[in-house]
Amino acid sequence: MKTRITEMFGIEHPIIQGGMHFVGLAELAAAVSNAGGLGIITGLTQRTPELLAKEIARCKALTKKPIGVNLTFLPVMTAPDYPGYIKAIIDGGVKIVETAGNNPQKWMPVLKENGIKVIHKCTSVRHSLKAESIGCDAVSVDGFECGGHPGEDDVPNMILLPRAADELKIPFVASGGMADGRSLVAALAMGAEGMNMGTRFIATKEAPVHDHVKQAIVAASELDTRLIMRPLRNTERVLKNAAVERLLAKEKTLGANLKFEDIIAEVAGVYPRIMQEGDMEAGAWSCGMVVGLINDIPTCKELIDRTMAQANEIIRQRLAKLAA
Ligand SMILES: Cc1cc2nc3c(=O)[nH]c(=O)nc-3n(C[C@H](O)[C@H](O)[C@H](O)COP(=O)(O)O)c2cc1C
Repeated sequence: MKTRITEMFGIEHPIIQGGMHFVGLAELAAAVSNAGGLGIITGLTQRTPELLAKEIARCKALTKKPIGVNLTFLPVMTAPDYPGYIKAIIDGGVKIVETAGNNPQKWMPVLKENGIKVIHKCTSVRHSLKAESIGCDAVSVDGFECGGHPGEDDVPNMILLPRAADELKIPFVASGGMADGRSLVAALAMGAEGMNMGTRFIATKEAPVHDHVKQAIVAASELDTRLIMRPLRNTERVLKNAAVERLLAKEKTLGANLKFEDIIAEVAGVYPRIMQEGDMEAGAWSCGMVVGLINDIPTCKELIDRTMAQANEIIRQRLAKLAA
């Protein structure tokens, strides 16, 4: 399937694996890219630019296909060494960067001078238009249903995607709630040129996370996610567990007085314990409503192949017949 996104990134299928903290390591990114999608290494999971350089090299030894690196610009006091991470990306020969979080404007000149395509993840039409105006090549439009940070506007993809299509000139992919060929066809129908999946790719054989995480995803339904940190205007969609229930109880009790320090135990530094050690009650971890559509743990190739087969079948059979 050819779209502006497959052409831009030099990939076979319009399917991207979004950056995911402690999930987007070399093994997963390479598996997605080898299957014809675009695999993305999560930059900040590597504690230093040197470690990111090693992770890029590890990934490049596993695939000759295009890969990307996610750079998340966090609203934190002491910023990570972004210039160092960008140098590691450039020196590593990576030509695609997925930016997320704060506006990446400051970093656009250096990325563009080095021939890097930038896809910025946005949760609103206004941020997408801003990304277009600062020279981003594409946008990943993340609806309210997404795992991770859906922003504060709460607009689901059924509205957000056609709105983005009406306003944007640059191509965009649908992100949030995407799981299979039905998702892809729906995304294309609403004007996207492909889709970005997060949660779905965690429940794959190659995802380098503890089996407990994959089993938790398979076991969960679409009713099992919760929104946390809403009072801090840093909303995150996570899978419910004991830590999340504790956190939500504090939010309820403290109301507008809630501070980040009050919930630090439930959110700070918990990812290694969950993703690597499989301690499913250790804290809050991002997860999309799409868990309700995930019932198995295929390889990335099986997942991508069946997604494309289902999408083509829907377009050629079901939709073609309806149009006649
Ligand atoms: C466990 C997990 C960790 C994530 N970490 C990041 C991250 O570090 N940076 C980022 O830009 N997005 C992150 N995301 C968001 C994903 O890249 C993607 O936008 C989102 O998962 C799409 O929604 P879906 O889960 O419904 O597919 C994360 C998502 C999950 C599920």
